[in-house]
Amino acid sequence: MTAPFDPNALAPLPEDFAWGVATSAYQIEGAVTADGRAPSIWDTFSHTPGRTDNGDHGDIACDHYRRWPEDIALMKRLGVSDYRFSVAWPRVVPGGDGQVNRAGLDHYARLVDALLEAGITPNVTLYHWDLPQALQDRGGWPERETAEHFAAYAEVVAGALGDRVRHWATLNEPLCSAWIGHLEGRMAPGLTDITAAVRASYHLLLGHGLATSALRAAAPGARIGIVNNLSTVAPATDSDADRAAARRADGHTNRWWLDPVHGRGFPADMIDVYGVDLPERAGDPATIAQPLDWLGLNYYFPAVVSDDPDGPYPFARQIRRPGVPRTGMDWEVDAGGIETLLMRLTDEYGARRLYVTENGSAYPDTVLADGTIDDRERAAYLREHLAACARAVRRGAPLAGYYAWSLLDNFEWAYGYDKRFGLVHVDYATQRRTIKASGHDYAGIIREHRARVARAA
Ligand code: IFM
Repeated sequence: MTAPFDPNALAPLPEDFAWGVATSAYQIEGAVTADGRAPSIWDTFSHTPGRTDNGDHGDIACDHYRRWPEDIALMKRLGVSDYRFSVAWPRVVPGGDGQVNRAGLDHYARLVDALLEAGITPNVTLYHWDLPQALQDRGGWPERETAEHFAAYAEVVAGALGDRVRHWATLNEPLCSAWIGHLEGRMAPGLTDITAAVRASYHLLLGHGLATSALRAAAPGARIGIVNNLSTVAPATDSDADRAAARRADGHTNRWWLDPVHGRGFPADMIDVYGVDLPERAGDPATIAQPLDWLGLNYYFPAVVSDDPDGPYPFARQIRRPGVPRTGMDWEVDAGGIETLLMRLTDEYGARRLYVTENGSAYPDTVLADGTIDDRERAAYLREHLAACARAVRRGAPLAGYYAWSLLDNFEWAYGYDKRFGLVHVDYATQRRTIKASGHDYAGIIREHRARVARAA
């Protein structure tokens, strides 16, 4: 069992703090041909030999498309108040543009109704990387039309769910779509082309802005945000070269995604680093910088970098520090990073409402003979990061909620099913779900918070 939880560490969290769990469509749904869904770039990528560990793909995943009532029951058992999930664009508009698939929309309408019935607030992400393959075949995110089709799709989803869903995110981690998908080639669509990557990044943020307007028009009460995965970045040494590398890595990971949506434009130093002209048209900067209701932070690990003039963009190499604890992803554990980033969003970007939209850890879980999973490292990771969130709140960060990644073990993209992030274990052979010790721990933290609020009332 894990050590007793010190409730005082979380005392600064607001009374109405949103306690959530997060998932995404392709990682859990399965049912890839059900009810008119068409292939996404992740179906294509994961079925391409050599692209994912063990050749894993999302064909079945957690079978959540059929088992969602059971998964809502699990959320109830955890006691969460909020659920962040994504809508699969290829279920709703299978061709990417044009014909709307009512059956796909109906699935999400049923899910939303059942969540509300269970007293759980839905937070809907419109894009978590599953671009309809039909749009990729026409050029994908490097093309401007994809941003325009994204806004049309946003309008369709808002039209169907906007009377019941208040919290919306446009994009999840556009960094991964652009840099990992178009520059590093480790994610769909698997390109390694700086021009395509920069164009994709531009059109993702343009799509975010266009979709924000479309959402506001279709669902006037919508509270809209964008979700970025950010990292703290430090130089490996005090040398000028390493400090400049850290500045570039910060530009690549953080500023490129934050500055444009805050009306500061794309960072000029990074445009120089990439050497690619932006496909900008008059009016785009204002479209990208729509006022937002909240910002989402996905935080997993810090970065310590050294200069790497011959390496890939942005010519900064992440170094491996000896003796630092790491998760099963080989990511450094540094809870202080979440506090630093929440304060940066507050102080440097003037955030008025923040959510930690993802935070969590993969560890190689063992199912014990009695069927339990005593994942104390994941539980410790969760507590340490929550305590760091509470420190940021004490320092003035307007943090309104935390979504643990993830509700379920799921398809961890190119790493397949071996990397488990869930608070709930999934036996993929039987689809049996078992709440891990970390899930029980999270439930206890939530209960304790509510009890503290009740005592104070
Ligand atoms: O599983 C992913 C998720 O899809 C996006 N954020 C990071 C998670 C862990 O890698």
